[in-house]
Amino acid sequence: MTKVSIGLGPVWAPGKNEHLGAFAAAGTHSAKRISAPFARDVRGTKGSPAYRAHMYHTKVPPEAIAPYIEHYTARGETVLDPFCGSGMTGVAALRLGRRAILNDLSPFATFLACNQTLPVDLADLRKTLRAILGQVRPILEPMYQSVCPHCDGPATLKYAVWSDVLRCPECDHKYVLWDVAMQDDGRLKQEYRCPACRAELRKKLKDRVGSEPVLEHLRCRGGCDPSEAPAGPVPDIADNGFWYPTDPIPEGLDELSRVHRSGIRTVDGLFTRRNRAALAALWDAAGRVERPDLRARSLFAVTAIMVRASRLIKYLHTRRMAPGPIIGTMYLPSLSAEINVLDMFSRRISALCRAAEDLRPHRGEEAAEDVCITTQSATDLSAIPDNSVDYVFTDPPFGHNIMYSELNLLWESWLGWRTDASDEAVVSRSQGKDVSDYGGLMAAAFGEARRVLRPGRWMTLVFHNTRADVWNAIRRGVESAGFQVEAVQTLDKSHETFKQVSADGAVGYDVVVNCRKTAPVGGRQITFADPVRILEDLLDGAPDPPCKERTARYLHARLTGELVRAGQPVSLDYRELLDLLEEHFTRHGKYWLRCPTKKQKPS
Ligand SMILES: C[S@@+](CC[C@H](N)C(=O)[O-])C[C@H]1O[C@@H](n2cnc3c(N)ncnc32)[C@H](O)[C@@H]1O
Ligand SMILES: [Zn+2]
Ligand SMILES: [Zn+2]
Repeated sequence: MTKVSIGLGPVWAPGKNEHLGAFAAAGTHSAKRISAPFARDVRGTKGSPAYRAHMYHTKVPPEAIAPYIEHYTARGETVLDPFCGSGMTGVAALRLGRRAILNDLSPFATFLACNQTLPVDLADLRKTLRAILGQVRPILEPMYQSVCPHCDGPATLKYAVWSDVLRCPECDHKYVLWDVAMQDDGRLKQEYRCPACRAELRKKLKDRVGSEPVLEHLRCRGGCDPSEAPAGPVPDIADNGFWYPTDPIPEGLDELSRVHRSGIRTVDGLFTRRNRAALAALWDAAGRVERPDLRARSLFAVTAIMVRASRLIKYLHTRRMAPGPIIGTMYLPSLSAEINVLDMFSRRISALCRAAEDLRPHRGEEAAEDVCITTQSATDLSAIPDNSVDYVFTDPPFGHNIMYSELNLLWESWLGWRTDASDEAVVSRSQGKDVSDYGGLMAAAFGEARRVLRPGRWMTLVFHNTRADVWNAIRRGVESAGFQVEAVQTLDKSHETFKQVSADGAVGYDVVVNCRKTAPVGGRQITFADPVRILEDLLDGAPDPPCKERTARYLHARLTGELVRAGQPVSLDYRELLDLLEEHFTRHGKYWLRCPTKKQKPS
């Protein structure tokens, strides 16, 4: 493992950023009063250049985050994302003239966040990436050279299709799955006969002995369009002497066990020899770029194509294409596409330049000074002073279905950094963490978010899970940290739309939870679920009258909901609520207002 040195000064560190405390303390705060939670429908888009620059698991598009930041903060204020992933919260914040603190446990995630948010001179970036392309072209071009089946002239490989080679469990004969099971309609037969012993077979992971190229998609340099040709023998690509990672893939992991069972024991096995050698040459050239910011961006251009350059990319013969990776999983498909790395890198240059250009007009001259990125556990952000952050927007780890630290191994092995998973908030067999461990870590992280937030300020969570126990862990964490959940919306990712929550719940939707750091309980022994407190907060959060949020019926429904949410028996019927309102609040027509002179509930 060779560690990549980047050195981006105070902005980013692959571990704790020692400038974090000073950055947080230097924020300016407005007197902005946020009287009501964000409650509009928002349409996001996945088409924004930053969103498309680099993949990461469960990204939230910056366009969907922006309206929240606008609602909950003023210009110049500081937004924190303690589980920042690829940094989309940072992109949204900087575009709106806010400052951003971005944190993630994974050094790869913060590396992405850094490359997504740091300003870079567009002309320099384009020049650097093109220079790398020029340097590697003579090495890579011959690797993807082929022959046009029509004119016998030179052709370039766009991608090669590889098929599993399996061993017949009956007679030990080795056969190519493609040859034996591919049908005219482009689908693989589920059941087929061994070509040697005619035994009835189904493909099984344990019978897998290797893979072989079966088809080539070509670009003829003479101009004919051969599109498809049968592949020749396995290309004889010797290692070109450039370094690549060989980190072990241990046995018994949650997500990577399938890869392990496919016989892959080291990270380099996730690539074909050809693509591995091509990536190694690119990595070497990118790592030699002199200027640290441009070096980081160049390595980012290579990590951006790494998954598509790997054997994890499935080939769909029905559609003659290799769609993108399946987010959140890692396995070797029986038919995979080996895509030309040189082509991908050259396309990535324009994508990265578009992303850099997109962020530029929104940033001032001193742009680098409005973001601070740190790599540590969200459960301990002690460098950030109390009450110093104006808003938290985050998309926390999903619990049991996405193993971030395992998935990030593919990239982190190249960078020479590794997530320290001891505090990873995840439900994982191999890490020995169950839902209550996950809940404990989330509660600690929310506790930190609450501590650093200014009083009365807000945290918005985007979360998805189909398991009630994971949801309850999140809800309990939010509550035990002392947040008041004020409003809930859903995010329909398939339509990239935020919708107001409806009774049909959240299946297939992300849920957006808006919660507020309520005033410290202080000397008054009032519990979180005290009905008067809840009513005060509801009225504090309500719009000016007239509005439904100030009617007794609405307050009753919300209060009931809040009591249930707090795990308390619902203790007030409607009549009793009216008495309580009479006693503690002021009526204006049919709307209730907070009145500071009225008697507070005794402790
Ligand atoms: C759902 S992802 C965030 C994705 C992000 N919204 C984006 O746009 O890219 C959750 C992140 O939480 C991180 N994580 C898990 N446990 C953590 C911890 N204890 N502290 C900080 N980050 C953690 C994971 O590494 C992962 O990047
Ligand atoms: Zn030709
Ligand atoms: Zn057989």
